[in-house]
Parts: sequence; structure tokens; C-alpha cells
Amino acid sequence: MSVRILGIESSCDETAAAIVADGREILSSVVASQINVHRKYGGVVPELASREHLRQIVPVVREALLQAGLNFSDLDAVGVTQGPGLVGSLLVGITYGKTLADSLNKPLVPVNHLEGHVHAVFLEAHKTGQVPELPAVCLIVSGGHTVLYDIRTEQGTRAEAAAHLHYHKLGQTRDDAAGEAYDKVSKLLGLGYPGGPILDRLAAAAGSAFAPVKFGRIKMKGNPLDFSFSGLKTAVLYHIRERAEYAPEIAKREAALERGEGKFEQLLPLCSPQTLGLVREFQNTVVRDLCDRTFAAAEQTGATTILVTGGVAANTQLRSAFEKRGKSAGIQTFFPSRPLSTDNAAMIAAAAYARLRAGTVADTSLNATASLPLT
Ligand code: KG4
Ligand code: ZN
Repeated sequence: MSVRILGIESSCDETAAAIVADGREILSSVVASQINVHRKYGGVVPELASREHLRQIVPVVREALLQAGLNFSDLDAVGVTQGPGLVGSLLVGITYGKTLADSLNKPLVPVNHLEGHVHAVFLEAHKTGQVPELPAVCLIVSGGHTVLYDIRTEQGTRAEAAAHLHYHKLGQTRDDAAGEAYDKVSKLLGLGYPGGPILDRLAAAAGSAFAPVKFGRIKMKGNPLDFSFSGLKTAVLYHIRERAEYAPEIAKREAALERGEGKFEQLLPLCSPQTLGLVREFQNTVVRDLCDRTFAAAEQTGATTILVTGGVAANTQLRSAFEKRGKSAGIQTFFPSRPLSTDNAAMIAAAAYARLRAGTVADTSLNATASLPLT
């Protein structure tokens, strides 16, 4: 009999529920995005996020059961994100999850959101049958995090030993996360929220457009495996401020966003070659930096496997840069599919399965932990 776990995710601006069998087979995965609620503010507003989670949690779980063709009584456990994240948002998922687990008399498994992102890679690997060798270096790169971990297990070298992973942090951002830099630069350019998907496509559309600026490599004092993206964001800000020619097109794009015309096809004609060149240079700098430091981490630890996960792992250029570099360095690179890269609950259910096998369960005293470390 397979073990069916309901995963619940509510750490930021996605209310998600999924049912995963044996930590590898996704029976359903439902994500209710709050993007439309937060769009006009250019970022996540915590109070609105909590309220939206409250509205969505019941229908989202119901939909996950419906899509899987299951009832509550078919569930073997409930996995829920404990942190890190926004406390008010986390509390909605935790309160729902612990009430449900208690009423079903099934185990409640607390999950670290970052471990969920790691398991998104394993979920994908199970689908393709290519299981990553451990030890690995894992880059978790999203709107809230940019962090490098060494991941290993004492239970053999295969990710089947996922129940016994050990995490050692190698480096992290000292200021903005990479996804946050995408979102802020997008806002500066009047390109809307979230910034990653639109800048990804505009950079690809830039082709050989003239580069109005060249950003140097991002320099770090101290740990070379740390990151910093706020300087790059400020460099974009100054570049735009110092050139009056950007203002009219930014105003046109902001007006288009106001009218609800924020799709790529609608914004592309409102971007000058200069703006496209700027976006391409910004993305080149971010991708090169993420790639350089992650491969340096693998060199340092001797890992021959790299995992890349989190919302920014959906980026087209990032994926091809890692694959190309991996091939020439003899390092295997693994990504989740795009829907599994951004926040979802299938990754939480998969991580919960591993934790349940290792004996981690919580009781009704479980509480949200805004800055839960990954251990
Ligand atoms: O993992 P995620 O859904 O939520 C967090 O845990 O933060 O990541 C969301 C972030 C946003 O900052 C968004 O702009 C970025 O991921 N993102 C991308 C792409 N798709 C989403 N960044 C770059 N390229 C993309 N294609
Ligand atoms: Zn996330």
C-alpha cells in the first residue's frame, strides 16, 4: 500500500495543496496564486496574503482531493510548511493542517519550505528516472532566498536516502534574493510583478540589441560563496535615473499595466532596444553570478552533482547556462520542471514523506517559524 500525503503550502503568496504517493508520484497539485492581489503593490503585502490564504485554503484542499479522486479518509499523513516565510501566511496552513491531522487521527509532519524546494528536484528526477548522485551542491534561488547548500547522506549515495539528508550552508545572499532583484528591477522599468517571467522573455527577445550599460562581475569580500544583488539593482536604478529617455516609455508601460495589459506580447512593443539591452545585461549579470558561485561551491566540496531549485530556477537562460557549464565541467545538473520550481505543495508532500520515514512528527502545538533554519 502506498503512503498518501496531503501537502499544504502557504508560506508566501501561493496557497497550495497536493497529494503525493510515496514521496514520488504526484496524484494532484493545486496552486492558487495571489499575484493579482499583490500586483498593484509591486510585491507581496503580508496582511493581504494572510487574508487571501484564509479564503483559499479550504477550496484548494478540496480541489486537490477531487483531482486525486480521494477522500480525507484516504490520506495517511498531512505535511505542512512550518517556515521560513511570512508568519501570518504560515499560520493559515499550519492551523488548517494540524486541525485536519488531529481530526483524522493521522500524523502531522512539519516541513521546512527550503527542504520542499530540494525535494522538487527529486520529484522531477523520479519522473525522468534519473536520480541525482549525492553529495550535491544545491542552489535555492527564489524571491525570498538565494542560498547554497552542501547536501549529503550517510545512507549511500543515492537520493533514495532522501529521508536522511544532511544540509550544510555554504553561502547565502547578504541582501536581496535574486528573485527580489528581478522583481525590483521590473518595477523600476514599469514591467509589473512578478518580474522574473517577463524579464526572462524580454532578455530573450533582446537579441543583439545595443547594450546601454555593462555591469561588471559582482564582487564579494569574505566568503566567495555569498551573494549580493542589491548593488546591481541600485546600478540599474542610477542608470535609468541619469537618462531622461527612459521616463516616457516607463510611463507608457505603467499605463498599460493600469489597463490590465501586462502580458509579454503587450509590453514588448512598448520597450525600446535600449531597454531590451538593459534587461539582457541585467539578466546576464545575475545568471553569470549564480552560475559562477554554484560551480565554485561544487569545486570546493568535490560534488559532481548540482541541483538548482526555487522560482528563479524557472529562468530559461539560467537553465541553459548551468547545463552548458555542467557539461564542460563533468557535473550533472538537475532542475525541477517549471511548475515545480515555483512554490507548490507537491514538494512539501514529498519532503514530508522523507521526514515521516525519519520519524519526524508534530503535535497540535506546532507553530509558525518565520526564519526556520534548514538542518
Ligand atoms: O519560489 P517562488 O515561487 O517563491 C519564493 O519562495 O520566493 O519564487 C518566486 C520568485 C519571484 O521573485 C519571481 O520573479 C521569480 O521567482 N521567477 C523568476 C522566473 N519565474 C519566477 N525569475 C527569473 N526568471 C523566471 N522565469
Ligand atoms: Zn519558495
